[in-house]
Amino acid sequence: MDLSAKEWEKYGKPEHSHVYKQIATVMHKGIKPEEVAKFYDTWADGREYENELPEDVYNAPIVTAAEAAGGLTDDQKATAKVFDVAAGTGMCAVQLKLHGFQHIDALDPSQGMLDKAKEKDLYERYICDFMTDKHLDIPENTYDVLTVSAGFGEGHLPCSSLHEMVRVVKPGGRIVLVTREQHLYTVAEYKDRLEPLMDRLEAEGKWKKLERKIFKGFFLDKDGIMWKYQVL
Ligand SMILES: C[S@@+](CC[C@H](N)C(=O)[O-])C[C@H]1O[C@@H](n2cnc3c(N)ncnc32)[C@H](O)[C@@H]1O
Repeated sequence: MDLSAKEWEKYGKPEHSHVYKQIATVMHKGIKPEEVAKFYDTWADGREYENELPEDVYNAPIVTAAEAAGGLTDDQKATAKVFDVAAGTGMCAVQLKLHGFQHIDALDPSQGMLDKAKEKDLYERYICDFMTDKHLDIPENTYDVLTVSAGFGEGHLPCSSLHEMVRVVKPGGRIVLVTREQHLYTVAEYKDRLEPLMDRLEAEGKWKKLERKIFKGFFLDKDGIMWKYQVL
């Protein structure tokens, strides 16, 4: 993230210094995608990741799932095919299931994180891979809903992954993206690039923005940002 581990320790509450350090480490400037995946492998161990990110510390999975479900009927949710990108240990899938979604696939480059999701039997398919602009082994127009709860950050999802997200979602399907708002200004990959690309995809008729909002509680005192798009 934008603060060094030392600064996080200084500004955070003492009880949150460990989780601050974890996030500062996995999101430090210049971190490589392979290093990111490796770090999450170790963070997942012993359910440490989930234990350190309870709802009052981190609400991204709750917000993502609620936005994915909003306006859909029970029948639509029960039959929808959902793709949870940057799925991690499945914290978003737990929430999606509470909203009535039943068919969810996961993608994440950290096998350690996916193994924790598997223990809870949350997903139908587990894909251990990075999402980039490369075509995954998924036909186009496969999913009704695609979610990303906190998959953007230093060394995380590249802007170009939006192309692949749009490809695998059916026309009329929705894409819900949630990240820390500050990343838009502090992560070089996203600064003046991520939202302009979103706008370009809209101008090209690939998708239509349904909503963009800033919200509290993404991670402690850091605001989150949520975009909801409908694929055309
Ligand atoms: C902060 S965790 C969020 C996990 C889960 N969605 C949640 O809300 O708890 C970020 C996740 O993004 C994954 N990730 C990083 N780069 C990725 C990429 N290029 N494609 C897909 N997932 C990625 C990491 O492995 C990690 O599990």
